[in-house]
Order: sequence, then C-alpha cells, then structure tokens
Amino acid sequence: MKNTIAKENDTKFEILPILKERYSPRTFSKTPLSEVELRSLFEAGRWASSSYNQQPWRIIWGIKGNKTYDRIFSCLSEFNQSWASNAPVLLLNGFKKTTDKGEENFLALHDLGLFMGNVSAQAQHLGIALHQMAGVNFEKAKKEFNFPKDYHVATAVAIGHYGGNIEDLPKDLRDQEDPINRTRMMQQEFTFNGDYFNEPELDSSERGLNSSKEQIMKKINN
Ligand SMILES: Cc1cc2nc3c(=O)[nH]c(=O)nc-3n(C[C@H](O)[C@H](O)[C@H](O)COP(=O)(O)O)c2cc1C
Repeated sequence: MKNTIAKENDTKFEILPILKERYSPRTFSKTPLSEVELRSLFEAGRWASSSYNQQPWRIIWGIKGNKTYDRIFSCLSEFNQSWASNAPVLLLNGFKKTTDKGEENFLALHDLGLFMGNVSAQAQHLGIALHQMAGVNFEKAKKEFNFPKDYHVATAVAIGHYGGNIEDLPKDLRDQEDPINRTRMMQQEFTFNGDYFNEPELDSSERGLNSSKEQIMKKINN
C-alpha cells in the first residue's frame, strides 16, 4: 500500500468529480484549516434546503489545540479516538427535534443530512476531507455542550485537508484505508421503477464493482 492515500470511486455512470473523488479518510494533512475555509463550509451548509426552511442543524466546532476540540474529542468512542486526533478540526452536529409549533419534526435528521451533504461537496471542492462519526457518546455530548432538551446530538465529524501517512494510524486500521475495501450496492438494489422489490435476483457477475454499464442498463430496462 502506498504512503499517500488517494481513492477514486469506480462509478458506473459519469458523476461530478467532487463526488467521484470524495472519500472519508482517517489520516489528514498537518496543514491547519483557516477560519475562512471553515466558514465557507458552514456557509455551504447554511444554504441547504430544509423542511419548511426550519434549518434544524446546530454545529459545535473546535480547532486542534483549543479546549472545544478536546471537549468534542472526549465525547468520541474509543475506536474513533484512536484516529480522529489526526484531524485539525472536529465538529459535533446536533438538530432541533421539534418544529416552531412544538410538534415533532421528524424530518430534522434528514435536513441535517442535507446540510452535511452541502458541507461535504464544498469541502471536496476545496481539497478538504470529512469523516463523519456515529461513534459518539450522545448523552455525554448533549450535556457537555448544554444542548436544550428538545435537541439531539447526531454525529461528530473529523475535518482536514487530504493527506497524512498510513503510519499516522494504529496498525489494525491501516488495511481499511486500502481502496479495494470500498464497495457500494448496485443501483438495482436500491432503485425501483415500480414496487419495492427485496433481494433483486442479480447474477454474482452483476454484483459488486465488475458489472459493466451495458449489463446494468440491460437489467434496468428489462
Ligand atoms: C452518519 C455516519 C456515521 C459514521 N460513523 C463512523 C464512525 O463512527 N467511525 C468511522 O470510522 N467511520 C464512520 N463513518 C464512515 C463510513 O464508514 C464511511 O462513510 C463509509 O464506509 C463509506 O466510505 P466513504 O465515505 O469513504 O465513501 C460514518 C459515516 C456516516 C455518514
């Protein structure tokens, strides 16, 4: 495996380069992020769409060397703590669970996802990588940062410029950075031009990364 990690997705159809080249690393360049770069990520998130424009996302952010960074780090799972200190910035995402009328906003997590999608696209455009983490002690994080009762903490995110070396990771995590370990479901497994259909009957040759665009189009058009 090479020292400098770079991955490009084996897409079956053409997609935007920022989507094709994005991945979630566990190593980062030592170059710090400027506040302007960070603000442009949040600005991209700010312009995400949301149900009734309620913008339920809330972000806590900390820069390495500062107290907020250490407080976010202390809320991560042991596994995530084993690599996340490579990142020059850590975020914690929360969302407001209720609408302005006090009713449950069951689209809030969806909208936080759209926010993070915008942040992710803007970051990739700037050569900045994100690694989102569900491995967070949510209750601890909620208390630590004084989130009110009707908020949930959703994820933490490690952020930094792409880079770093495989040696920056504990030995047992290095293999996971190998591009060969990146797979995706086929479109037929999650898109349906009609009723939902569990377990599409794909030949093994049609599964995984080996099937050609022609094979897929044949299957889709059948
Ligand atoms: C909501 C969410 C939670 C995740 N939680 C973790 C986590 O706790 N630890 C971790 O190492 N990776 C975590 N990941 C990263 C995923 O494993 C990764 O996105 C997935 O394997 C696809 O890889 P890619 O982002 O490089 O395409 C998380 C990703 C998302 C979107």
